[in-house]
Amino acid sequence: MRILQAVSEFFPYSKTGGLADMVAGLSGALARTHEVTVATPLYRGIREQFPDLEAVGDEFELPLGDAKLTGRWWRHQPSPNLIVLLLENDAFYDRPGLYMEHGEGYWDNPERFIFFSKAVARLSLDYDVAHLHDWQTAIVPMLLKEGAGKGTPRTVFTIHNLAYQGSCDADRFSFTNLSAKLFHSRGPEHFGQLNFMKAGLHYADAITTVSPQYAQEILTEEFGEGLSGELLKRKDQLTGILNGVDYAEWRTRGNPHLAAEYDLENLSGKATCKAQLLEIFGLPNEGLPLFAVVSRLAEQKGITQLVEALAELLPGDGFQFVLLGSGDEALEEMLLQLRAEFPNRVGVEIGYDQSLSHKIEAGADFFLMPSRFEPCGLNQLYSLRYGTIPIVHAVGGLKDSITDIQKPEGNGIRYEQFDVPQLSTAIHHALSLSRDPKKMEMVRRIGMKQDFSWPMAAQKYTQLYSK
Ligand code: ADP
Ligand code: GLC
Repeated sequence: MRILQAVSEFFPYSKTGGLADMVAGLSGALARTHEVTVATPLYRGIREQFPDLEAVGDEFELPLGDAKLTGRWWRHQPSPNLIVLLLENDAFYDRPGLYMEHGEGYWDNPERFIFFSKAVARLSLDYDVAHLHDWQTAIVPMLLKEGAGKGTPRTVFTIHNLAYQGSCDADRFSFTNLSAKLFHSRGPEHFGQLNFMKAGLHYADAITTVSPQYAQEILTEEFGEGLSGELLKRKDQLTGILNGVDYAEWRTRGNPHLAAEYDLENLSGKATCKAQLLEIFGLPNEGLPLFAVVSRLAEQKGITQLVEALAELLPGDGFQFVLLGSGDEALEEMLLQLRAEFPNRVGVEIGYDQSLSHKIEAGADFFLMPSRFEPCGLNQLYSLRYGTIPIVHAVGGLKDSITDIQKPEGNGIRYEQFDVPQLSTAIHHALSLSRDPKKMEMVRRIGMKQDFSWPMAAQKYTQLYSK
């Protein structure tokens, strides 16, 4: 099969979150048996990182409302069956951020991704399947069905996060150059706004999301972000497939980011990783349990609740906490204040750092994911492989992948209700576990043995593509 993936970030070319990892893992696994092309924007810095990009054909022009804009695809081939095509348009993509700066989204994000989607729609005519990811590419099925007509590929639309819908003023619909008649509630119109995600839900042949649990949750008003009605209409075409992990990247042996190697047979190197991590954060090494977070700082991730719980617990309980993250400036401020209050116990690094994220996964004892909702979540899966015990709110993919240690084969600590008291209790459970080193090691080992590798999940996508 000839498969096209279209996505707004793709690891290692660009990344702000799990989306980039997911499409990289899936594409790598599919490329073992299929011809896979990934289309993604050519953002600032990619050329420097990959100097051997080759231009594909000449520049082309695409209409964007009344304007005509030029674009060009640049090609990179990371492995035999995998081609990456990067869309050049410097005015749109050569910017300091992928989607935002200083916590503010770019005002022209709709135009930036309508342009990208148009280029993708043109490209996809050469493929059997076009697999679109998140709101940035959600209008591709509409562009194909209402524009290109016959001979278009089958389309699959994956929701990675229903909270980001690409909702904007109705007048931006004109940038699609489709007939204004198509702007209605059975399509991209949602309460008077243009809604990219809704167009995807309406026009895609199949819809998937990144865990079975989230696939159920989004059919309810609580998690449906205003689109549960639309999703209910397409319920029979909606599947939840849990993401996999790229274990070639996320590994505890031969990993250039880690201070020491360790594995199931010999865990001793993990202590070296912890010592290095504490040093990086300038924290004293006093043998205390170490809790950690690596996260986009967004409301979804439960950071406010976490800071509240930590501020309550830190004065009485002996533990340390480190966090790497960036995003919402109010959350950044809250975290920096916590660090100022507990300088020997709390380490906070504001920024984005792939290497440090590996060091944190390896050096911590517990990894906290107190998310209000979590479509899949990858960090808990990375934590399992790194022998770091996840503490999660039982929601979405966290619920699908983490079983509480009170159950046989439990691989983490789970709490059911999204509130501060339950989160604090979960942290207390972790502290009791850390006082029982034998049990703690047993739980670490259960997680390290688990296999969430991509080939299994990729097969589910292949079955879907063939339908
Ligand atoms: P989401 O996609 O909602 O952000 P996931 O758990 O699926 O959540 O994936 C997050 C990914 O992004 C992980 O690989 C995580 O390590 C990475 N990440 C998030 N924030 C940072 C950061 N500040 N620095 C480095 N990596 C980060
Ligand atoms: C989204 C979700 C996250 C998921 C990731 C990859 O960003 O927030 O839960 O793991 O996409 O699918």
